[in-house]
Amino acid sequence: MSRTILITLAVVAGLGALVGASVVGFGLYNVSAQSGHLPGVSWLLHTTFRHSVRLRAQDGGASMPDLTDPDLIALGAGHFATGCLPCHAAPGRQRAAAVRSMLPEPPPILEAIEGWGPSELHWIIQNGARMTGMPAWPAENRPDEVWSVVAYLEAIPPDPGAPALRIPDTATLSRIRDPQTYCATCHEAVAGPVPDLSLLSPAQIEAALRAFASGQRPSGIMQQAVSQVRPDDFAALAAYFGVHPQDASDDPRREVTRRLPGASLAQRGTRDVPACHACHGPGAAGSFAATGAPLLDGQREAYLARQLHLWREGVRTGSALMTAAARDLTDAQIAELARWYADRGRAETARPR
Ligand code: HEC
Ligand code: HEC
Ligand code: HEC
Repeated sequence: MSRTILITLAVVAGLGALVGASVVGFGLYNVSAQSGHLPGVSWLLHTTFRHSVRLRAQDGGASMPDLTDPDLIALGAGHFATGCLPCHAAPGRQRAAAVRSMLPEPPPILEAIEGWGPSELHWIIQNGARMTGMPAWPAENRPDEVWSVVAYLEAIPPDPGAPALRIPDTATLSRIRDPQTYCATCHEAVAGPVPDLSLLSPAQIEAALRAFASGQRPSGIMQQAVSQVRPDDFAALAAYFGVHPQDASDDPRREVTRRLPGASLAQRGTRDVPACHACHGPGAAGSFAATGAPLLDGQREAYLARQLHLWREGVRTGSALMTAAARDLTDAQIAELARWYADRGRAETARPR
């Protein structure tokens, strides 16, 4: 008896495979984006998507930063303007006709975020949605960056006409075509996790841009940003934003140091952690350090802390020296060092240009 059942099952399975193969092999399934999915298929796909997100988005809460931080919101708006707006449109605006005939259609952003909490939005933006146009975050291992976009989405008032919140106008941001102004929308208008470029030499900036473009230095935000300019423009942008050694030499920032807990660690190190200043201190003429390490004095605290975490966790690589220096830092030491270097701010007048 069991033998008959087995044979029947084998035959049924064989027929099933044959039908499947003919659908694939003879092109029986209509892949035209014009006809739409059969009603059942759309429902099935979307319900699967919703349940899948709800199930998987649950553990995101632990690392959630303060989503009302204005720098985080502005950074997210800057990324949204080129990374999301082409498909989902600015809040309250029309999507392009070509986008409206995508299948599935990207919903207008206010519809897209409806019913999702911050952790779920984080999951969707990080992972994308397979077999739809919804892309995954451009860099793996950068869930920290995704929160800025979530912060922006959470700040959008439900009625786009409402003047309730002053959030950057993404529609205007997306129309900026001149590369310098484009870069400045983040690097000069936003602080927090966005670095001050005027601490770097043009060579350091150009090298960073190439590392982002190749993906060697993972950042979904900067990978998107460099894709908006031509590689031929990298050198000119680096020259425009960077500081030149002669400007750095009359930089008064070293006078304003206060005593903060990070000082001893930065200047003397410990058994496990080398003295940061050996490499990051200013060079002999008060210009760039001979080691090629960037100046950290006056850099933004949130940026410094974030980069130190990335070095320690092995997400940012590219300098074995720096990897070794960050390996044994504790969370508290990272916070102290970031605070100490950020506090060594320089006078406004020293800013180049
Ligand atoms: C190339 C077009 C495209 C880009 C770029 C894009 N999306 Fe999407 N997005 C889609 C499509 C298509 C869907 C619909 C997926 C579905 O129906 O299952 C979607 C779905 C979503 C959803 C879930 C909506 C729902 O069905 O509940 C959210 C939220 C979302 N996108 C946010 C974003 C954000 C934020 C960005 C930028 C970081 C972004 N998208 C970039 C095409 C895009
Ligand atoms: C949407 C905001 C945004 C835009 C637009 C943007 N950046 Fe950035 N940039 C960032 C953030 C955030 C980081 C930090 C990346 C990280 O965490 O790895 C960064 C990092 C950098 C760095 C590395 C600095 C360092 O200390 O190593 C350089 C160089 C840079 N950006 C240059 C540019 C240039 C040039 C442009 C214009 C083509 C540009 N950025 C456009 C947000 C932006
Ligand atoms: C032996 C030399 C050396 C030592 C010691 C060192 N660094 Fe670095 N650091 C570097 C170099 C080189 C880079 C640039 C690497 C790159 O861009 O690939 C760097 C990069 C960094 C960056 C990223 C800066 C930016 O603009 O993106 C931070 C933050 C940093 N170091 C902090 C520290 C701290 C804090 C310490 C002490 C715990 C330290 N470093 C010790 C050589 C060193």
